[in-house]
Amino acid sequence: MRDSHTKLTLQSILLHWLVAIGIILMLAMGFYMDIAEARFLMPWHKSFGVLILLFALWRIVWRMINGWPTALSNEAPAVKLVSKGIHWLLIIGSALMPLSGIIMSGFGGKGLFFFGLEVWARNPDPMNPGQTLAVNEMLSGIGHELHEIGAYVMVLAIVLHIAGAMKQHHILKNGTVKRMLGKTID
Ligand code: HEM
Ligand code: HEM
Repeated sequence: MRDSHTKLTLQSILLHWLVAIGIILMLAMGFYMDIAEARFLMPWHKSFGVLILLFALWRIVWRMINGWPTALSNEAPAVKLVSKGIHWLLIIGSALMPLSGIIMSGFGGKGLFFFGLEVWARNPDPMNPGQTLAVNEMLSGIGHELHEIGAYVMVLAIVLHIAGAMKQHHILKNGTVKRMLGKTID
């Protein structure tokens, strides 16, 4: 079954809210870890990030097969273009955030553990027991930059996206939000 103009599939709705809530919580967790220096949260941050990546990739494949939901509003072409651009940014960012984190950690020598299961081995520093050595400093650095800049871009995109959704719901009073909540629009 595919999304129609009047109703979105359960798959589209569940994937939207699962990834949306996941990304918002992960952004909050990441900024909190940074500000409060709460390093003990890092294994959870990484494991949940990898889990979200799986759903984000599923969603991208689903959008490639199904296409995007059709717009319900009759807004100016420029507004529609911005809203579409933000959808692209959000869906790509949902995969790029965890991917950049994995690149930062893996090539940084820290390895990758998925809820305790080793997916990418650590690279121990033979000179300093307990410490790790970068495997590829440049790639790890690129991952780090992408992860940090990406986080701010995602916050901005999410704020604009929610503002857009509120405008559809409260000002234009169409069924855009209701449709994403599973209702059939007439
Ligand atoms: C409370 C927060 C959010 C609300 C109220 C909300 C609401 C909506 C609504 C109403 C639509 C349908 C738009 C349409 O039919 O044209 C939509 C689509 C979309 N939203 Fe959100 N959203 C939220 C958070 C997020 C977050 C955090 C992300 C990114 C991770 C996201 C990514 C998307 C994408 C990519 C679409 C396009 C359709 C799809 O692929 O599901 N949203 N959102
Ligand atoms: C849903 C995906 C993710 C989101 C939204 C996210 C978000 C964030 C944010 C907001 C920060 C703080 C950035 C700052 O320094 O200001 C952060 C830090 C970090 N994240 Fe993620 N993250 C995600 C997934 C991952 C994954 C999968 C990994 C690794 C496997 C990872 C590894 C890290 C690391 C190592 C830091 C600390 C970087 C530093 O020391 O500066 N993240 N993340």
